[in-house]
Amino acid sequence: MVAGPVYSRKLFSILNPTSINMSDNETLRTIAARRSIRLFTDQEVDDIVVTSILTAANQAPSAHNQQSWRFVVVRGQKKAELASLAVSRAGDFPKPSSSLLRMAARSISSAPVVVAIVNTGDLIARGENLFKLDHPGVRDFFRTMEIQSSAAAVQNLLLAATSLGLGSVWLGILFLIKEDVRRFLGEPEGEFMAVIPLGYTDRSTKGPNKVPAEEVTRYLK
Ligand SMILES: Cc1cc2nc3c(=O)[nH]c(=O)nc-3n(C[C@H](O)[C@H](O)[C@H](O)COP(=O)(O)O)c2cc1C
Repeated sequence: MVAGPVYSRKLFSILNPTSINMSDNETLRTIAARRSIRLFTDQEVDDIVVTSILTAANQAPSAHNQQSWRFVVVRGQKKAELASLAVSRAGDFPKPSSSLLRMAARSISSAPVVVAIVNTGDLIARGENLFKLDHPGVRDFFRTMEIQSSAAAVQNLLLAATSLGLGSVWLGILFLIKEDVRRFLGEPEGEFMAVIPLGYTDRSTKGPNKVPAEEVTRYLK
């Protein structure tokens, strides 16, 4: 029998606020505080804040350290055009996708700045060589590695934004119009990953409840 991974009970004791106070630890406090924010105040977000957030995103782990992501900062007229693009394509999809695209457009319009993340496709192109792999599923493997790497960068970005007092939301629905978005962003190739409006908020939100970690965990010994 092949032994499976053993998840440490200690991890849960660290994350469980009944045993360790999450507010005692800056990282855990930020993780607990992060919630999706979809509407923002008019307060500007300085470039220096955006740069710090992107530095944190860029610090994420990535398969073979390839960092096969690109960040595109969208402001002003281009941001208005991105929102219009989402609205103009919403009618091509049934509900609820069409409504989610319109909601995404509202968040983009409301935020002072938007960051788009695009996978470059470099890992897919170079992976076979890098990993010395020759397998029928090789493209799928490297595409998955690219997506997972960029997802780590997105989560770093969201946490860094939270830590600096900003609200954010990961807009995945734009994947439905991913080729339009990629072209709009001026990325020659690769694949859309996420669009993230960033801004300050004057509302506090608890966000939806989470299923307790214990309910989605099994221990193998
Ligand atoms: C991959 C991914 C795609 C998402 N896409 C959207 C989206 O298109 N629109 C939206 O409003 N929220 C989107 N979200 C945010 C989720 O709705 C949100 O994370 C979830 O409801 C939990 O709430 P919380 O972020 O406040 O914990 C997305 C989140 C993830 C991880």
